Amino acid sequence: MAARHPAALKLALPAAVGAAVAISIGAYGRLHTPTGVAVSLAGFSSAQTVKVWLACAATFFGIVQLVSALAMYGRLPVAGTSWIPVLHRWSGRVAFLFAVPVALHCLYALGFASYSPRVLLHSVLGCVFFGAFTVKMLALPRRGLPGWALPLLGGLVFAALTALWLSSSLWFFATSGVRF
Ligand code: HEM
Repeated sequence: MAARHPAALKLALPAAVGAAVAISIGAYGRLHTPTGVAVSLAGFSSAQTVKVWLACAATFFGIVQLVSALAMYGRLPVAGTSWIPVLHRWSGRVAFLFAVPVALHCLYALGFASYSPRVLLHSVLGCVFFGAFTVKMLALPRRGLPGWALPLLGGLVFAALTALWLSSSLWFFATSGVRF
């Protein structure tokens, strides 16, 4: 009779791919010579403020995804609402779509930097965010995962995004004021 593998083993391949994604992003950010290129948008005073507000939008939709996940797992008194899983999926997609252009600019124009503990933490968190997101997306379609797997992965993605926002947008608002 085939040996029954622990359910957690189903996470091994997604975890390996996620780690490879995080390390590759970090290696590119470290080895690539930052270009310093800046792209601004009408209505914003600089490329930096564009990124600061895009990161705010990503984090807002991350919060919507967290709240809808709490509802899906029965932690909020919103029973029998079939649209919650749809809201959860789409808020996650929109949050990711807001984060990608910001991260692309960070990597291409600024690189993986370590000139202060805040910036090093931010750079590491940026890699962790995409690594954890990859693990969650690869784990999702797998049947028989341990019950703690998706909440843990979702929590890690949300925590990384929130810490990215704290180490960049909130820092910007605290040092340069809330402005566009
Ligand atoms: C993928 C890996 C990432 C790396 C290596 C990275 C690196 C950096 C670096 C070095 C800075 C300049 C920090 C400073 O001097 O203040 C920065 C700024 C910033 N990053 Fe990232 N970051 C990454 C991902 C992200 C993600 C995913 C977000 C948001 C969802 C984000 C949002 C920001 C924002 C808002 C700023 C401030 C604007 C700026 O100074 O250009 N970063 N990032």
